[in-house]
Amino acid sequence: METLILGPQDLERAGRIIRAGGLVVFPTETVYGLGGDARNTQASTKIYAAKGRPSDNPLIVHLAEIGRLSTVARNVDPVSQYLAETFWPGPLTLILPRHSNLPRATTGGLDTVGVRVPDDHLALDFLRHADVPIAAPSANRSGRPSPTAFWMAQKDLNGRVDAMLQGPDTRIGLESTIVWVSDKKVSILRPGSIGPSQIRQVLVLGGFHDFEVQEVSTSTANVPAAPGTRYRHYSPEARIQVFSSLEELEAQVVTLKNAEPETPYGVLTTHRVQTLPSGVEGPRSKVLVYQTLEEYAQKLYRDLVTLDQEAYGVIFLYQPQGFSSDSEGIVLALVDRIRRAAGLVG
Ligand code: TXA
Ligand code: MG
Repeated sequence: METLILGPQDLERAGRIIRAGGLVVFPTETVYGLGGDARNTQASTKIYAAKGRPSDNPLIVHLAEIGRLSTVARNVDPVSQYLAETFWPGPLTLILPRHSNLPRATTGGLDTVGVRVPDDHLALDFLRHADVPIAAPSANRSGRPSPTAFWMAQKDLNGRVDAMLQGPDTRIGLESTIVWVSDKKVSILRPGSIGPSQIRQVLVLGGFHDFEVQEVSTSTANVPAAPGTRYRHYSPEARIQVFSSLEELEAQVVTLKNAEPETPYGVLTTHRVQTLPSGVEGPRSKVLVYQTLEEYAQKLYRDLVTLDQEAYGVIFLYQPQGFSSDSEGIVLALVDRIRRAAGLVG
């Protein structure tokens, strides 16, 4: 299949492709998505095929505006409604009872559906032109990192989709926070840049004082864990080693150099270059320093893929320690993704 490359001037056309049952890759504020008409069984089936994804792993449905929520979900409880009003457009996915308009193919056989309104110009314009709810997982082949740059999506899906809408690198770089509201609880099924304290604060402001916010691991009972968090995630060619202090990094680098002096290695961190132990930088190393945790999150997937392509045998990843209230969400999400990349969870 030949894949059309489209730009912001081609949204009419992109919308037509979606309505005709085709697949279009598009940017959001989190990661690029692989979109198809959420109401169309064949489109959803094609999404699974293009990704090489197990068909019991449900897709997130994207809407142009909150007003359309009732077309894909039913019996929306007041807390979910309030969270949607507060955080949309934005990187928050709500798990809600599925509307019968949506085929089970879209929700991986479940009676619930994940929904969000993305906070990105191009995504919203595209959704308005398509004029239907768009089911979209991240636009990577199963087992690869979510694309945060257009070229990453292209590398994975060129020739497997009808069109790709080209945009800049995504602003946040990690997938949305997924939450599920039940009884008196808001459960976080996948950490994202909207963190538990932020949700807690907003609930209190909305008068929902008696709601508890809970971070959920895959093993927590009575919660419909996000099936996707069970699957193997990005496992780069490079070995990933996580460090939590510069002393630890230094020790790991020394060990590597003694055992395998020829192996090139990469380091991704937010430590200032001047503070790095001598010996970390060298002819066989590539050290990428980010100014902020937000920048680290934004570039993590892209830089992992780049270093992998450049055949670095080992990648040392800094796992942030602690957080201010502002950075809680991004830190929890970063730690989760770093540990998954290292094979330490999931
Ligand atoms: O930021 C994002 O959420 C991106 C952009 C494109 O919106 N999308 C994304 O989709 O990350 P995907 O398919 O790669 O991850 C969706 C996650 C999976 O772990 C899936 O199991 C979970 O959401 N999920 C979707 N619907 C669900 C449901 N009804 N119940 C539980 N988990 C659900
Ligand atoms: Mg994904």
